[in-house]
Amino acid sequence: MKDRIITTEFSEPDVEIEHSLRPQNLNEYIGQKRVKKQMGIFINAAKKRGEPLDHVLLYGPPGLGKTTLANIIANEMGTKIRITSGPAIEKPGDLASILTTLKAGDVLFIDEIHRMQRQVEEVLYPAMEDFALDIIIGKGPGAKSIRLDLPKFTLVGATTRAGQLTAPLRDRFGVVQRLELYAPDELASIIKRSAGILGIGIDDAGARELARRSRGTPRVANRLLKRVRDYAEMESEGVIDLETAQKALTLFEVDDVGLDENDRLMLRTIAEKFDGGPVGLNTLAASIGEESNTIEEVYEPYLMQLGFLARTPSGRVITSAGCAHLGLKAAQAPANQISLEELTNHDEEI
Ligand SMILES: Nc1ncnc2c1ncn2[C@@H]1O[C@H](COP(=O)(O)OP(=O)(O)OP(=O)(O)O)[C@@H](O)[C@H]1O
Ligand SMILES: [Mg+2]
Repeated sequence: MKDRIITTEFSEPDVEIEHSLRPQNLNEYIGQKRVKKQMGIFINAAKKRGEPLDHVLLYGPPGLGKTTLANIIANEMGTKIRITSGPAIEKPGDLASILTTLKAGDVLFIDEIHRMQRQVEEVLYPAMEDFALDIIIGKGPGAKSIRLDLPKFTLVGATTRAGQLTAPLRDRFGVVQRLELYAPDELASIIKRSAGILGIGIDDAGARELARRSRGTPRVANRLLKRVRDYAEMESEGVIDLETAQKALTLFEVDDVGLDENDRLMLRTIAEKFDGGPVGLNTLAASIGEESNTIEEVYEPYLMQLGFLARTPSGRVITSAGCAHLGLKAAQAPANQISLEELTNHDEEI
């Protein structure tokens, strides 16, 4: 698959942008009203009691602000954050040494927590529940288990796949927050804030246009802003207005709802190769040469939010809105049923 300017996944050039654009406190964090309100209450209550915050699990599609929020939590609590990720912790001893260097109140952020190994995860259970570390000394029948006290810390876990977390791990989080795709007006505010920080000129209509094409995702919004700025510098004296935004995004092959060639290929494949669906995830993945994980985490959330794609128990289907967007005739029969008309048109469609 082609590299996508609108991928929600983190890429190298994002490093520098994301650092400078990351909101530092809850007030600067735009959108996610429910999450913000609840986290504000939990943080203030914990501070008032002089206790660390309960363990927090953040989940949702890539680029919505999980890492940002973890940093904000530590900032608001006035504590330090220690950052690691599930795959980076190779053995139980690695986690043990991280845990023993924490100070009371510190935030331990584990990104991609669903990718943690089982034995590592087992070290985390008593650590989360009793702030204790069970260490086995010696081997064989003479081995002894001793319990070490840990400082009271806050674990913040982030995952794009909450469904892959084991029940015992999930149950140990006192707070579970799901991040949602952002509404266009929220993304427009994020774009204006970012433009201010980066010193980019953009008017309201330009910001709204970028917002509409950002797949509900701040990471994409910030990336489009940077790319369109480059275009604006060459073509329209540096200011991003509606026309510049539209021209630049057309040039970058991002269509008017934020889809690129890859999204359209996937929708077209369902519509044309599979008669609108339902088609199983793995079959679909194989036919467009993409990982099924990527389809689930990166493509589908936005296509479903647009109402272009639906998940059914028997597979993925393209909706009539999806067909209309591609300029195709909508599948006539409800999923599973094949009408006479479709049978006769069948050859044409393939
Ligand atoms: N609520 C927000 N307000 C303003 N900017 C935001 C917000 N959420 C995210 N951003 C911006 O989007 C960028 C991506 O956010 P972040 O890295 O926190 O996403 P993530 O959910 O951790 O993604 P991943 O799943 O890939 O780790 C940040 O650098 C930040 O600039
Ligand atoms: Mg992250």
